[in-house]
Amino acid sequence: MSIPPIFIALEGLDGAGTTTQGNRLRHWLLALGRTVLLTREPSDGPVGALIRRILKGQPGEFDPSALALLFAADRLDHLASEIRPSLAAGQDVISDRYVLSSLSYQSLGGNLDWVRILNQRAPAADFTLFLDVPPQTCIQRLASRGNDRELFERLDTLDEVRRLYLDLVGEMRPGQDVALIDGTLPVEQVTEAIRQALGDRFGLG
Ligand code: TYD
Repeated sequence: MSIPPIFIALEGLDGAGTTTQGNRLRHWLLALGRTVLLTREPSDGPVGALIRRILKGQPGEFDPSALALLFAADRLDHLASEIRPSLAAGQDVISDRYVLSSLSYQSLGGNLDWVRILNQRAPAADFTLFLDVPPQTCIQRLASRGNDRELFERLDTLDEVRRLYLDLVGEMRPGQDVALIDGTLPVEQVTEAIRQALGDRFGLG
């Protein structure tokens, strides 16, 4: 029997490798004969573009609660314009970041319950891959890319975000809803661990 379209979320700290692994996962799914939408949040829609501009600013320049609302609005627009139509057309969807990003980054001030409410209308992904990389490694990777530093790309912030992520992952069912992947391994081995997790869960491969 054919395997129905799968909605996969890739999560991790800035510099954890979600973009690289999203591309590699897409190629694997295509090689298995599936059709795939690889997409990301902040999305490429109008709210996502606004968020990307804000992220280039300095801490304190934009109200964190207003930013949480924008991320949630971007997500609902992304679901309506890209994610749901693609799944309905039989495509797998890989989203580079999804609800878990908001539940960790936007709850930095301690308002997790409120952030959950904002995201209530966004259904859970079928499976979440959390690429776990220590913040020190993430900061080194980001520095070697030489891009300007964005709002959350600081060691103390990422430390706290990782703790929040790990708490949330700990509330999910391992192997069923989520896989925690060691993102410090060489790229090929991370890809292999992702294939293994999806293979076991959905019978792919
Ligand atoms: P990122 O995936 O790092 O984008 P890029 O690779 O294009 O820089 O995402 C940008 C930042 O947005 C990152 O620091 C995480 C943050 N973010 C949130 O705080 N909440 C969210 O809901 C999402 C989707 C991202």
